[in-house]
Amino acid sequence: MGNKISKKNQFNGENSASDNLSNEMNEEADRLHLQHYLQKNIWQNNFFAPVGHLLEQEDTKVLDVGNTEIIKGNVLERLPFDDNTFDYVFQRTLYVGIPENKWPSVINELIRVLKPDGYLELLESDFKPNNMGPATTKITDARTWLGHKYTVCYKLQDYLEENKQLYDVHCEIKKELNAENAEELRKLSSENFTTVVKTLKPKLASIIKVSNDEYDDLAKKMREELNNPKTFNTQVRVYARKKL
Ligand SMILES: C[S@@+](CC[C@H](N)C(=O)[O-])C[C@H]1O[C@@H](n2cnc3c(N)ncnc32)[C@H](O)[C@@H]1O
Repeated sequence: MGNKISKKNQFNGENSASDNLSNEMNEEADRLHLQHYLQKNIWQNNFFAPVGHLLEQEDTKVLDVGNTEIIKGNVLERLPFDDNTFDYVFQRTLYVGIPENKWPSVINELIRVLKPDGYLELLESDFKPNNMGPATTKITDARTWLGHKYTVCYKLQDYLEENKQLYDVHCEIKKELNAENAEELRKLSSENFTTVVKTLKPKLASIIKVSNDEYDDLAKKMREELNNPKTFNTQVRVYARKKL
């Protein structure tokens, strides 16, 4: 759902992912491809739920929330689908678009459109790296003022387990540091971060209270710090099934 390259906030006032993460449509499209490549590399596959057989059937209906450019819908309100429509509902990297207190109701909305016995899968990353250097800390802390709640990934399992409409909850956590291709992941992560930080420059420079030049210097230092082999992000994915 949503138009991933739209410049204007369509969803929830100032915290929309599209609004915050890029002013340049092409740059954002490139960044999302890079982020996809990063996630594919860390997990070595595209989905966690055992839905391979479903995806091979012609009549299977899949909803990939936040990744469709044709249908306009706001997961914070009501998705434009009937109850029990999809066999598999997948949602990834919406931590900027969904305020923390809205996650349980968003999950209920995703379950509403999911068929009984269907699979719900969520994937979010902790983009507050472990073992950050001082420049990265400054920038990452400032992002929290924009409502970027990195820690939501650690709550996904609880959200699914606490939901009475779901069963068979599974959770997997990956630290980029431990991946076989950790060095490549670090480079991709660093590039992704650098693009985000460049896009957010006007907002973050004013939050940190630095001039444009000082901000550029900080961003350069951050990039160097992200090369530290001990600095890494964490990704979490969960899936569960809807009760009959
Ligand atoms: C960071 S992008 C992630 C896109 C995609 N899920 C991926 O992993 O490549 C966030 C997407 O979520 C969409 N989005 C943000 N808030 C939304 C909302 N409340 N309802 C539906 N989509 C939303 C944005 O338009 C954007 O396409």
